[in-house]
Amino acid sequence: MSLFITFEGIEGSGKTTQIKILDDILKLRGFETVLTREPGGTVIGDQIRKILLDSENTGMTPLCELLLYAAGRSQHVERIIEPALKAKKIVLCDRFADATTAYQGFGRGFPVELIDIINRLAVGKLKPKLTFLMDCAPEIGLKRARERIALLEKTLSEDRFENEALAFHEKVREGYLTIARAEPERVIVIDVNQDVEAVHQEIVKHVLRFL
Ligand code: TMP
Repeated sequence: MSLFITFEGIEGSGKTTQIKILDDILKLRGFETVLTREPGGTVIGDQIRKILLDSENTGMTPLCELLLYAAGRSQHVERIIEPALKAKKIVLCDRFADATTAYQGFGRGFPVELIDIINRLAVGKLKPKLTFLMDCAPEIGLKRARERIALLEKTLSEDRFENEALAFHEKVREGYLTIARAEPERVIVIDVNQDVEAVHQEIVKHVLRFL
C-alpha cells in the first residue's frame, strides 16, 4: 500500500529518533518502506544539504536559502518519493514542505502565499496523508540539539540553523502550530515531553488508522 507520512518539528524535538523507530516497526510488520529526509534524500539533494547547513555560509540570502530548499525538494519528489509511492511503498520523510512554511515563511518572514506557490512548484499535487508535528519548547529542543552537536552525532559543519537565536525558533514553532491548526486532520501535534515509548505508541495509533 502507498502512504506518505512526514515528521516535522523544531531542532531537537526527537523526530529523527521517532521516524526510525516507526520505520523499524513497519518493516517488522512486513510493510515496504522508504525512509528519507529533507534537505537531502538524493545525491543532488545531499549536495544541496551541505550548502544549506554549512555554518560557514553566513552570507546566504534568505531567498537563496528558500530556492535551494525548493530545488532539493523537487529532485527528491520526482526521483524518490513519487516512484516509491507508485511502487506502493510507505514513504516516511523527515521534514517536507511544511518545514519551508515554518522556517522560511514564519521564521524568515517570507509571505506564506509566496511559500505556497514555491512549494507547489516543487511538489506538484503531492501532499502527505499524515504529518506528525513533534512539539516542544525551543529552549528544550535547542539544548538537546546542541548537546547532540557536541557529541558529534551531527557533523560540526551542519549547525547553521542551531546557531539561530531562540526568537527565530519560537517563530518556527508558532508557524508549525499554525499549520496544525489549519489542517488538524493531517497534522497531528505530539507533545514530546513524554518518554520515547509513549511518543512512539501515540504515533503508531495514528498510523494504524491508515493501514
Ligand atoms: P534536520 O536537522 O532536521 O536535518 O534539518 C535541517 C535544517 O533545515 C533544520 O534546521 C530545518 C531546516 N529546514 C528549513 O529551514 N527549511 C526546509 O524546507 C527544510 C526541509 C529544512
